[in-house]
Amino acid sequence: MLNAFGLSSRINTLLASSAVPVLDPASPNAETLRHLFVVVFLICMAILAVVTALIVTSLVRFRSRDVTPKQDFGSHRSEVIWTLFPALIVLGLSLVSAKLILSIIALPQREVSEPGDADLVVVGHQWWWEVRYPASGAVTANEIHIPIGRKLRVRVEAADVIHSFWVPQLGPKMDMIPGRHNFVWLQADRAGTYEGACSEFCGAQHAWMRFIVVAEPEPQYTAWLSHQVQPAPAPAGATALAGQSFFLAQTCANCHAVGGTSAVANAAPDLTHLASRSQLAAGVVPNTPDDLTRWLQDPQRIKPGCQMPNFNLNENQLNQLVAYLEGLQ
Ligand code: CUA
Repeated sequence: MLNAFGLSSRINTLLASSAVPVLDPASPNAETLRHLFVVVFLICMAILAVVTALIVTSLVRFRSRDVTPKQDFGSHRSEVIWTLFPALIVLGLSLVSAKLILSIIALPQREVSEPGDADLVVVGHQWWWEVRYPASGAVTANEIHIPIGRKLRVRVEAADVIHSFWVPQLGPKMDMIPGRHNFVWLQADRAGTYEGACSEFCGAQHAWMRFIVVAEPEPQYTAWLSHQVQPAPAPAGATALAGQSFFLAQTCANCHAVGGTSAVANAAPDLTHLASRSQLAAGVVPNTPDDLTRWLQDPQRIKPGCQMPNFNLNENQLNQLVAYLEGLQ
C-alpha cells in the first residue's frame, strides 16, 4: 500500500535509524509486522489530523457568541456518514491484521504436538529460558543460535506460569502457556545478535527474563550445534576437579544438569557448556569469572527473588566452583 506512494523505502530508512529494535526488522515476519504498524500509524495520524482540523476550525469560526452554527439535529445523512466511515476504517484495519496473523502463524496451535513438529523448543521458566534442539538433542539456556536465512519452527511452552516469547527484530510475540504447545517462526536474514525478552508479566524478575538469539552462517551454526551436544569437558586441574566434586555432592546437582556427569536435573539452566555463553542469570550480568563469582556469592543480590538461594559459600568453595564452571566450554 505504501509502495504506491513511493514512501516505503524512505520510511524504512527513517525507522531503521530510530534505534528502536522493533522498527528495525531482520526477518520477513518482523518486516510484515512493521509494515502493518506503519500503515495503521499513518491511518491513525490522518484521522487525528482531520479531527484536529475540524476542532480548530470550529474554535476559530464560532469563537464569537454572536455566530451560531447551522443546526442539523436528526440529520440522517450526517449520522450515516459518521457511523459508516469509522466502521469501514475499523473493518479495514481488522482485515489487514487478520491476513497478517494468518500469514505468520507457524502451525495450528494445539494441546499436544507430534514428534518432528519443531526445530526448536523453548520453555519459559521463572526466570530463564530452556532451549532444546530436538533433532540433535542439544540443550542450552538463555541463548539461542540459528542459521541465517532458514525458517525454524519454534514450539514454546511454559514450566510454571504464563510467559511470552519475543524477539522484536525477528517476529511476533507468542504466549507460552503451561500445558499448551504454541508455535512461532524464527528466522533472521542477517547475521547478528538479537535481544529477546519475556513480554508477559510473570513475577518479580519478569524484567530480567532476557535471552539472545545469535544468527550465524550455516557452517558456524552447525559447528556450534555439534559442540553443544558434546558432554561437558573434564575438569582441568585440581581446583576445577575439587569444584566438580563439590558441585555434584551439594545441592547444585538437584537443579542443574551437566552433560556427562551424574547431574541431570532440569529445574534450572543446563550448565554443560555454560562457559560458552555470553550472559548469566538470563541477561542480568555478562558471563565473566568475576560476575560468576559474584553470582555464586549471593544470587539474591544480583537477581532478587530468583530460585537460586544464597548458599553462603566460603572463599575456597567459590574458587573451586568458579574454576569448574569456567571450564565448561
Ligand atoms: Cu516470563 Cu515475564
